[in-house]
Amino acid sequence: MRYGAGPEILRDVTFSLPPASFHFLTGSSGAGKSSLLRLMYLAHRPSRGVVKLFDRDVTTIQRKARSEMRRKIGVIYQDFRLLDHLSVFDNVALPLRIAGAGKNQIRTHVSELLSWVGLDDCLDASPSTLSGGEQQRVAIARAVIGRPSLLLADEPTGNVDDAIAVLLLYLFEELNRTGTTVVIATHNEALVGRFKHDQLHLDQGGIEFRPYSA
Ligand SMILES: Nc1ncnc2c1ncn2[C@@H]1O[C@H](COP(=O)(O)OP(=O)(O)OP(=O)(O)O)[C@@H](O)[C@H]1O
Ligand SMILES: [Mg+2]
Repeated sequence: MRYGAGPEILRDVTFSLPPASFHFLTGSSGAGKSSLLRLMYLAHRPSRGVVKLFDRDVTTIQRKARSEMRRKIGVIYQDFRLLDHLSVFDNVALPLRIAGAGKNQIRTHVSELLSWVGLDDCLDASPSTLSGGEQQRVAIARAVIGRPSLLLADEPTGNVDDAIAVLLLYLFEELNRTGTTVVIATHNEALVGRFKHDQLHLDQGGIEFRPYSA
């Protein structure tokens, strides 16, 4: 992978994620974690090589199949990307609305999830009025509400304290138990050490598999 005519950011990166697996994606700042995730949520095409998602080569599929595939992927962006003209509730409800869920189902699910991440009091707020950590939790709720097949989280606990970070990891584990494949990019080593999951480690443009060891 490269940006424009720039240098190769990732090369000889070969790995596969078994369905319902849970990996941390680690590596120092600038190692390419966000870039690798961009390839995986179809925001960037590889300059060579193959990216397969759900057993299909994403570089050759048609636009329609591509957007269908994209709907199966929940993404937590490093910079949140919330919609400021919508309330917190409506930001989180969006994936369910797109999927055609009913009003009652949306109300119940969104309220429950926002309560779980500690944001009961913010349902009607505009995201721009929230703290960084609160915005991050809204972004997480939006990414998981539709129970995606693949969850890609870019530094999802970068703006919250340790107690909330652990709580959020429990949320990802819960989703994972119901079959979602999870990849969490982070450089929070303390957090990685607390959970029993394998690591994909990026270094010098390459990738190393680091199985969990106690
Ligand atoms: N849009 C872009 N255009 C050009 N180069 C980019 C772009 N985004 C990232 N890069 C470069 O790609 C490399 C990898 O960046 P990336 O953001 O993937 O790293 P990262 O591991 O996510 O870092 P961090 O931990 O700081 O988030 C860096 O050298 C960066 O300068
Ligand atoms: Mg990054």
